[in-house]
Amino acid sequence: MALSSTLSRLNLIPRPWLPYTVTTLRALKLKPHKPQLLRPKWAPLTLSSFSVSAQIHRPQDDNLVVLGIETSCDDTAAAVVRSSGDILSQVVSSQADLLVRYGGVAPKMAEEAHSQVIDQVVQEALNQANVSETDLSAVAVTIGPGLSLCLRVGVQKARKTAGSFNLPIIGVHHMEAHALVARLVERELQFPFMALLISGGHNLLILAQGLGQYIQLGTSIDDAIGEAYDKTAKWLGLDMRRSGGPAIEELAQEGDAESIKFSIPMKQHKDCNFSYAGLKTQVRLAIESKNINAEIPISCASSQDRRSRADIAASFQRVAVLHLEERCQRAIQWALKIEPSIKHLVVSGGVASNQYVRARLDQVVKKNSLQLVCPPPSLCTDNGVMVAWTGIEHFRMGRFDPPPPAVESEDFVYDLRPRWPLGEEYAEGRSEARSLRKARIHPSLTSIIQASLQQQH
Ligand code: KG4
Ligand code: ZN
Repeated sequence: MALSSTLSRLNLIPRPWLPYTVTTLRALKLKPHKPQLLRPKWAPLTLSSFSVSAQIHRPQDDNLVVLGIETSCDDTAAAVVRSSGDILSQVVSSQADLLVRYGGVAPKMAEEAHSQVIDQVVQEALNQANVSETDLSAVAVTIGPGLSLCLRVGVQKARKTAGSFNLPIIGVHHMEAHALVARLVERELQFPFMALLISGGHNLLILAQGLGQYIQLGTSIDDAIGEAYDKTAKWLGLDMRRSGGPAIEELAQEGDAESIKFSIPMKQHKDCNFSYAGLKTQVRLAIESKNINAEIPISCASSQDRRSRADIAASFQRVAVLHLEERCQRAIQWALKIEPSIKHLVVSGGVASNQYVRARLDQVVKKNSLQLVCPPPSLCTDNGVMVAWTGIEHFRMGRFDPPPPAVESEDFVYDLRPRWPLGEEYAEGRSEARSLRKARIHPSLTSIIQASLQQQH
């Protein structure tokens, strides 16, 4: 197994002219060695974006070395991964200072921060892996969903690298990457399996039937759970430097989770969708009623004040996770009706690094005689490894685009998919919530892949 090394922290070269500082560069370095690689020889091809191009000669499956680039939200991440599953490098530069300053992700600031560090992060990933661009088999990059301004930075860098070194490029779906990284961690994990993907922007329950083939059992109709953690942390005056989730998780351990009776969202909706906007409002009202002043950081709060904050954190977390538990229980029943051979529930995305979340979901999964697969925290939060790995999975199936031109025309329009569903909604679980309709802009990944498979036959 590839995940046995240590997580080291490096500091980026300070850039004093910036209105903020980009703080840590986390690097997870595994198995440093110079891989012996085959370079593909590219025949000129005319392919549409994310095309199926199985006829192109590709290097041996186990000799692939892919650079993954991720910039869809507030982390600038890159990694080099081998198709054997070895993680050669992992580098993440987080925008923690910006999060503290704005209490959330401000797209323009985030774009600027990505632009400042992207070259350095990619270079660091190559250095850590002890490879150069000429050793790579392909470049994988997140093309959606996410913030357009931020996605653009990663895609531009990926196309520039791929263009300069004649490498094919693979456009990756961010949420698919959160799910598929579990197959790198747990090599026995076969399709079909279920996945609960919980992050700052998304709550998704999916049935993964095959690579690129997903049925969406449930999704968030308003805020995702990570957003609720982040806002609760901000309103409680917690230290946001590691994002709100870990701060709430820690404080909740001191609190009484039964002290405030928040109501569980969407009890009356017998589906698998999620809603956290109402819970956020309940939390805000509880904070107001206890006169908690977020301007006073928790480190300066009186012991009684600290106790009130901890009770709110614990009560919020209990109900936020109960909502997940209920939805998972129902989704397991639905999924087993469609695919009775399912054995695993993958839980991934930033919120899946929470130990309480893992423990509670483990109980649900065990009750249903399934197994929980949870990637380690560094692979649950946004990272380049999941993008590289998903790129490898698609590349093996012949799904990639040919190398971009070495010099791209200035008016080239990037294929960015800020709102991009992963799969088609399960008919029985279709929600009446209108926000779901509005959110659907790009055809789902599953429908694109099915259309291209039909074209082949
Ligand atoms: O997947 P991710 O890194 O980025 C997105 O795609 O959104 O998830 C980030 C989210 C943030 O809302 C953060 O507060 C949450 O994951 N998170 C946690 C924990 N660690 C990160 N939430 C709860 N407990 C944690 N330990
Ligand atoms: Zn994510």
